[in-house]
Amino acid sequence: MANSKLTLFIFLYFTVIYTAKAADPDSEPFVGVNIGTDVSNLLSPADLVSFLQGQKITHIRLYGADLDILKALAKTKIRVIISVPNNQLLAIGTSNSTAASWVGRNVVAFYPETLITAIAVGDEVLTTVPSSAPVLLPAIESLYSALVTANLHTKIKISTPHAASIILDPFPPSQAFFNQSLSSVMLPLLQFLSRTQSPLMMNFYPYYVFMQNKGVVPLDNSLFKPLTPSKEMVDPNTLLHYTNVLDAMIDSAYFSMKNLNITDVEVLVTESGWPSKGDSKEPYATIDNADTYNSNLIKHVLDRSGTPFHPEVTSNVYIYELFNEDLRSPPVSEANWGLFYANSTPVYLLHVSGSGTFLANDTTNQTYCIAMDGVDSKTLQAALDWACGPGRANCSEIQPGENCYQPNNVKNHASYAFDSYYHKEGKSPGSCDFKGVAMITTTDPSKCYYTTT
Ligand SMILES: *[C@@H]1O[C@H](CO)[C@@H](O)[C@H](O)[C@H]1NC(C)=O
Ligand SMILES: *[C@@H]1O[C@H](CO)[C@@H](O)[C@H](O)[C@H]1NC(C)=O
Ligand SMILES: *[C@@H]1O[C@H](CO)[C@@H](O)[C@H](O)[C@H]1NC(C)=O
Ligand SMILES: *[C@@H]1O[C@H](CO)[C@@H](O)[C@H](O)[C@H]1NC(C)=O
Ligand SMILES: *[C@@H]1O[C@H](CO)[C@@H](O)[C@H](O)[C@H]1NC(C)=O
Ligand SMILES: *[C@@H]1O[C@H](CO)[C@@H](O)[C@H](O)[C@H]1NC(C)=O
Repeated sequence: MANSKLTLFIFLYFTVIYTAKAADPDSEPFVGVNIGTDVSNLLSPADLVSFLQGQKITHIRLYGADLDILKALAKTKIRVIISVPNNQLLAIGTSNSTAASWVGRNVVAFYPETLITAIAVGDEVLTTVPSSAPVLLPAIESLYSALVTANLHTKIKISTPHAASIILDPFPPSQAFFNQSLSSVMLPLLQFLSRTQSPLMMNFYPYYVFMQNKGVVPLDNSLFKPLTPSKEMVDPNTLLHYTNVLDAMIDSAYFSMKNLNITDVEVLVTESGWPSKGDSKEPYATIDNADTYNSNLIKHVLDRSGTPFHPEVTSNVYIYELFNEDLRSPPVSEANWGLFYANSTPVYLLHVSGSGTFLANDTTNQTYCIAMDGVDSKTLQAALDWACGPGRANCSEIQPGENCYQPNNVKNHASYAFDSYYHKEGKSPGSCDFKGVAMITTTDPSKCYYTTT
């Protein structure tokens, strides 16, 4: 990050101009989530898929191509980006037949029952494993040829996620450019993306920009908090106003591409997020900041506001990440980027009022305890009997003839009873478990559920 350039960001007073945009229902912007798996008790693939559905999560990115997860996603409407791990690049980039068999095994075997939307080839290869840079483009092209052979190349995009650090002098955005040492890869890559109408995948973290430029980048800009116009960042070359760091980062990518005469490739933010907990050197990794960042990020995307440079294009964003990865090594923040704990309890409740259905209906900051999908009815019945018996949940409403007797099935009755018990216990940790057949949701179950809050 170039500190000196940041000072070029001048802070001026201007009237905010809002750009109204026509809605195109075919290209609704979306927020997805990354699913990292350094988690000690990851949900089974079936439970993971029910959980995603319960949370109305429609887009996910996997860091590999776990066959069991891809199978469990079949016939759902969840769209998935699968990935080629960095350690497979060499094999794929040096052998067309290896690339073809990768596509056969991980894509053709599942599509279209599983809605694979893209293949992310490697992750931050140019900055984390530069020795693999020479095979990156060959790997992408071999995989593309295999998709062409399978006639899936118009349905499934291929790209590779980059770290923000490939862009130098990102602030102000109009002066940004790709590190020229990477041109031999970047230029042909961008030409490939342009030719195949694939996105430039970028991992953008305003959190790190803020941490590395404290005192220069205000916290409020990093968190998308409403700003007084005097605190907006103004790009002195374009006079574009930046109310938040993420938009500035996205525009830095557009200007970097423009420098190479590439103007028809969209930016897809494959990772962004904020940690909810950190060590003593990470004082801004707090639940409040994480909640504010991710809630505002979701609203910002779903408001389809675009960026100052490209107000007509709203980048889709994948939040990093779904679960806290407790197995990650320090710093503490590494294990605390998740929206949920591994057991699917929320780390915090997002505030995304009015932003549609994604992680929906959680704005009342209520949590509910419901029966998980896919649990056999005998097990559920046992849990229900315990809740209404020894557990002393209030089960009066699910008795025959009462308001919540219908729909009369064990799953609905169990959800009612679990939620009653959970509230009776003051939503205390462990009060929504029932031997693993219950889960906490922030989504209004929209049926007869127990609640007194
Ligand atoms: C892969 O196939 C392409 C044409 O489809 C060819 O140009 C290239 O040389 C092949 N690569 C290898 C490593 O065989
Ligand atoms: C640009 O990329 C080269 C090659 O990876 C790297 O050595 C160099 O540090 C990068 N420059 C900056 C300013 O990050
Ligand atoms: C971009 O286009 C301009 C004008 O056509 C040209 O001068 C420049 O060399 C091009 N740059 C690249 C990287 O192709
Ligand atoms: C929940 O979300 C749905 C879909 O956006 C909406 O129709 C409904 O009114 C919301 N319910 C509440 C309680 O906000
Ligand atoms: C929960 O909602 C109440 C009332 O809407 C609000 O005052 C409170 O701050 C919220 N709590 C959290 C943790 O968001
Ligand atoms: C149980 O729930 C019913 C319906 O909500 C309520 O009328 C009744 O008072 C509750 N009983 C107890 C013991 O809380």
